[in-house]
Amino acid sequence: MNETISRRGMLEGLAALGGAAFAPKAVLARGADNLGTTAASVGVTFGSAAGNQIYSDFSYEHLFGETRLITSEWQFKMAAVQPNQGVYEFWHADNLLNYTVRSARKLKAHCGFWQAFNPSWMSGLSTSQLQYTFDKHIDTIIPRYAGKVYAWDVANEPFWPADNNPGGFGGGPWYQAFGSGWVKRAFQRVSALDPTAKLYLNEAQCDNNGNGLGPVIRPALLNLVSDIKNAGLRIDGVGLESHLDMGMPYDDVQFGAYCNQLAGKDVKISISELDVRDFSLPDDPATRDKAIAARIQSFLTQALKSPAVDQIVTWGLSDKYSWLKGLWLDQRGATFRQPRPLLFDENMQKKAAYTAVGNALNSRKRA
Ligand code: G3I
Repeated sequence: MNETISRRGMLEGLAALGGAAFAPKAVLARGADNLGTTAASVGVTFGSAAGNQIYSDFSYEHLFGETRLITSEWQFKMAAVQPNQGVYEFWHADNLLNYTVRSARKLKAHCGFWQAFNPSWMSGLSTSQLQYTFDKHIDTIIPRYAGKVYAWDVANEPFWPADNNPGGFGGGPWYQAFGSGWVKRAFQRVSALDPTAKLYLNEAQCDNNGNGLGPVIRPALLNLVSDIKNAGLRIDGVGLESHLDMGMPYDDVQFGAYCNQLAGKDVKISISELDVRDFSLPDDPATRDKAIAARIQSFLTQALKSPAVDQIVTWGLSDKYSWLKGLWLDQRGATFRQPRPLLFDENMQKKAAYTAVGNALNSRKRA
């Protein structure tokens, strides 16, 4: 296996490793009263995505004592692992794996293949070169982490109806390479190279009815899961991202029923990227926090009525490091407003959203 590790990657990796090597004990000790414990009491694994901030901001890293599972926010994506063609940089992925092993948490590697945010060197490749890249990438990265990562988000967001492809599949490099079959190809090859990792298909938009995407993607996702199963391939779970938006209409009872439909395909369900976009709300933080908490509690309470929902993963833990920060700036220009999408504020203090998750989990006890 010809893995060239670039000098830049080595330097970056050493820097990240330095931080990771000194993570305080807090993460290694599981609190008695935290969301991970509450979730476990009702058969749910609570987790969060993690960026590299956990190595440098110990007040943030301390919050991960709430979690039993960590999803890589970007460290296992192609742009991080193969930033240049044929040149692999495993530093970020290895460091996060080491961190989760040391802190006795499961690691979900996100993601094998996505048609967005791929490294720039891929843009000019021919179909046959993309096919080679797809297979070679799997053959290189999956064996390296086989038996070490708890799960893979094998394929991320395969659907994008706006591209007008049959079945609502999104266009992009992997669709160019193999048509809609890229998803099954990924599951087949990953399963053969890592028989122990749980294999997930991860999709967005299934939670809402406000942008025309949910009503199209929900049935398409059901069909794809059936396709994968009918091909005799292993798929263990489906991630429903759940990037909620206060400007959208929701039918949480309908979402709970959809979870049951998916469960009927013999897959587990992860609420895999939970956060709440508050761009449509007034500035007052207390007003936003209250509305967001109510949204989360209603959404999770209905989802948790489906026994197949056994993972709740937030897309970060503190507003300080949410991916939505950049989006607000992009969409609103110079006047920056700190979004409040997560369970802890930018000073690492619990918010009403934290309590809402605990209330929803405890609602399963009364069911
Ligand atoms: O890749 C570089 C890395 O080489 C470098 O060393 C590191 C230094 O911090 O930065 C990395 O840069 C950026 C990375 O975030 C860390 O900030 C990438 O350029 C940037 O593209 C990446 O953005 C991520 C994005 O997915 C694209 O991968 C966001 O953090 C992440 O929150 C977002 O998450 C997506 C899910 O994967 C799928 N669902 C939607 C969700 C939100 O868009």
